[in-house]
Amino acid sequence: MTFLDKNNKASDFLHLGNKLLSWYKKNARDLPFRQTKDPYKIWICEIVFQQTRINQGLNHYNNFIQRFPDVQTLAEAEENEVLLYWKGLGYYSRAINIHKAAQQVINDYGGVFPSRYEEILKLKGVGKYTAAAITSICFGGKIPAVDGNFYRVLSRVFADDFDISNSRAFAYFSELATLILPGNVGDFNQAMMDLGSEICKPKNPLCGECPLNEDCLAFSLNKISEFPVKTKKVKSENLHLKYYFVHRNGQFLIQQRKDDFIWKKLFEFPSIIPEELESFNKGVKTVNHKLTHKNLTIEISNIEVTSEPAWKQFIAQNQYLVTDFEGSHEKSFPKPLENYIQNRNQK
Ligand code: ADE
Repeated sequence: MTFLDKNNKASDFLHLGNKLLSWYKKNARDLPFRQTKDPYKIWICEIVFQQTRINQGLNHYNNFIQRFPDVQTLAEAEENEVLLYWKGLGYYSRAINIHKAAQQVINDYGGVFPSRYEEILKLKGVGKYTAAAITSICFGGKIPAVDGNFYRVLSRVFADDFDISNSRAFAYFSELATLILPGNVGDFNQAMMDLGSEICKPKNPLCGECPLNEDCLAFSLNKISEFPVKTKKVKSENLHLKYYFVHRNGQFLIQQRKDDFIWKKLFEFPSIIPEELESFNKGVKTVNHKLTHKNLTIEISNIEVTSEPAWKQFIAQNQYLVTDFEGSHEKSFPKPLENYIQNRNQK
């Protein structure tokens, strides 16, 4: 049974939110974006860390802010440079959207970051979670920033079996969160993020250290592992990609992706080559790579063009770009292709 079905909201659960705030005051992680209420910086950090662990993204965040310290600088930058600063983080559409949204702030809001939830939500790539995080942290808004951490913490604390794969889960857990929402929602939201990633973890949660353990129904029933409830698994699609690493004397051919399907605007190797070049084939490497809801099998043929005229002719006939190992540092490649380039260089 779900918690909101069996309880009326007159009950007082506010002490839970306040307990969490006291815990946060003592235990908040010392993160660079916690020294500021600049909505630009908070926005960037929320986008970076939404799909990336803090440890994995911290250098990227710092480098990004150093190069693009404000919305104006970001809006005026070249898209490829923004992509370069995203190199290694994955989910590159985030970088493309961030760049477009910076231009929206300049064009639609005179360069002043909007402060209202509904306006922030209009920015490219900004969803309800991000808009709630920015309004609450920077402008005192009272909206919970509901994400997977909220689903996990709240479903456990209330032993609530509302299915988190249900399309109404966001609305349901937003309502549940309002039961415990204290005055300082910005800190509360960040406390939930810290609790969810450090203590109330998906696997092996540290219940002994949790500030809410005395109140946690799932803990008292010894049923932590049963929450959150998730019935539907999104099926992953299997995809097969073929690339040619066409090279000569340390140089190789690349192109920039245009389609929206995956890896938009990233650089890749050619996928089609004329038959004549097949005679230079020195072998095929197959790598597997997972994306969200996609299992990729990538076959990369190593084509070393040993004939100068054939190389020249191929370059002249095609719109591929020529680069080398050094030059490839200036471009963002999908992770498996980046790994391929790095491995080749180490040989
Ligand atoms: N993950 C995303 N945003 C965060 C924040 N503000 N604090 C901690 N972890 C986060």
